[in-house]
Amino acid sequence: MAYNIAVDGPAGAGKSTIAKQVAEELSYIYVDTGAMYRAMALYFLRKGISPEDEASVSAACEDITVTLSTENGEQQVFLNGENVNGYIRTEEVGKATSTVSAYAKVRQKLTQLQREMAATTDLIMDGRDIGTCVLPEAQVKVYLTASVETRGKRRFLELQEKGENCELEQICEDIRKRDEQDMNRKISPLKQAEDAVLIDSSFMTIDEVVGRILELVKENCS
Ligand code: DC
Repeated sequence: MAYNIAVDGPAGAGKSTIAKQVAEELSYIYVDTGAMYRAMALYFLRKGISPEDEASVSAACEDITVTLSTENGEQQVFLNGENVNGYIRTEEVGKATSTVSAYAKVRQKLTQLQREMAATTDLIMDGRDIGTCVLPEAQVKVYLTASVETRGKRRFLELQEKGENCELEQICEDIRKRDEQDMNRKISPLKQAEDAVLIDSSFMTIDEVVGRILELVKENCS
């Protein structure tokens, strides 16, 4: 039987940083499901399909294959065979992703793929609906969150480091909008699973959060 750790939470809560470290400690595979949704959104944008047009997005789902591999410990996402890691982290793709990830057809496609991976592999998977929908039987479920201000500041520093021009207030506003969209959609909205452990990382270091998850794994995965 494979051990599965599900980590859900809003944008900027630190899910990928934390999940990557936990995966390394345990020699589990790390699966970033947001990247899979982003790859699909990139396809629609490239084809000129409006993210708002659910019928066209849904019809185009059949033409898309998303696959993953790991290179030097980093997840690589392939869209119809092309490595698109370098194209999926823009604001434009992020916004389109939030819109198209609300559609049933898009979710069905990726949920199935995610379940297939989890059935045979020890992994830590992060996203919005992993504990509630994709892997309801996961041995460990974490809901990782932080205040909008903390998440905004983290994102602000990240962008500044990259030399990008940005305003903290605008970033916080974008985060609020993204939360609103992800938490209030009809299918698989972002919410804490009843049996998930809540971790608020606003005043915790990365090592503290990783340590807490490793404790949960010790208690539940043996
Ligand atoms: O984690 P992220 O910022 O890369 O996610 C991008 C978008 O994808 C986010 O707005 C919500 C959506 N998403 C989702 O609906 N379900 C998931 N399991 C992962 C991401």
